[in-house]
Amino acid sequence: MTMRSLLSDHSHYVESFHLFLENSTEHHCMLEFIEKKLLGILSSIGNGKSAINVLSVGGGAALSLSLSSLALSPPRPLLPLICVLGEIDLQILTKLQAKYPGVVIHNDVVEPSAEQIIAYKERVANTSNLENITFTWHKETSLEYESRMKASKEMRKWNFIHMIQMLYYVQDIPATIRFFHSLLEPGAKLLIILVSGTSGWARLWKKFGPRLPLNDLCMYVTSAHIEEILDGAGQRYQSYELPSDMDITDCFIDGNKNGELLLDFLTETCNFSKTAPLDLKNEIVEDLKKLEYSEKRGDKYFFNNNLSAIVIES
Ligand SMILES: C[S@@+](CC[C@H](N)C(=O)[O-])C[C@H]1O[C@@H](n2cnc3c(N)ncnc32)[C@H](O)[C@@H]1O
Repeated sequence: MTMRSLLSDHSHYVESFHLFLENSTEHHCMLEFIEKKLLGILSSIGNGKSAINVLSVGGGAALSLSLSSLALSPPRPLLPLICVLGEIDLQILTKLQAKYPGVVIHNDVVEPSAEQIIAYKERVANTSNLENITFTWHKETSLEYESRMKASKEMRKWNFIHMIQMLYYVQDIPATIRFFHSLLEPGAKLLIILVSGTSGWARLWKKFGPRLPLNDLCMYVTSAHIEEILDGAGQRYQSYELPSDMDITDCFIDGNKNGELLLDFLTETCNFSKTAPLDLKNEIVEDLKKLEYSEKRGDKYFFNNNLSAIVIES
């Protein structure tokens, strides 16, 4: 059997992604950032305005699993999952709504996956107190959105644009950042969240990336790359480190189903344990215990899942 990308098997991807969310503080650290930092950062975007325009690029999944894809996974308690549907996007919006009472918020979502859009819509339908917020979904990639805007010569401008955990899927990152930056109103901000250049992910991709089945739909990009691009372009920005970790202890228990799924997520490989050459598997599993990747607390190992939030000025 040869190794193949995890992204080539949607239900397998969803299952391992779900486990990643359960075992990591990914979601929690983003919510904390929104609560403690982002609102301050966005403090000026709505001043004196009767409407705030927010563009969410790749906002569909919002760390969610659509109900239809869940049906493919082993049965799990549904409630906690429903709670994460659309959570990040909606958290941002409801915080803005609370900060600017009475101001209308127009939220446009650029998202290529029909399934993710359905999940997002379900979440909106089941959330109360979204009265002053309007939603428009565009089923398209960021590049399709860019082409459509350029062709229409419309170039609608925005007060806040965010790209959370999505630039991995974009081919020309500098051009994408340039385009969305050009859509900012004066005083507006563009937020990018990606894994940090100091995370275990960065080390893992650097060392093992060439030996893993990288799907050309997904790039091994970290906040360090984005900062290089921004520095090169002379953009003004501010970076925030979001400490996060993932309990990977199960990865070291031979034959453990959850451990295998987490290894699949870490290596972005379908059935990594069964399809990877033995030397590669042994090397990765041994490395994951090392301090560069994980911290040992008691008898548990926590992989460094730090994220970076980069806020670019207009
Ligand atoms: C890992 S999810 C992140 C979702 C969400 N922003 C969050 O973190 O809460 C990545 C999302 O980007 C979307 N995506 C993938 N390629 C894209 C592209 N070229 N343009 C816009 N969105 C894309 C995916 O469909 C998915 O919904």
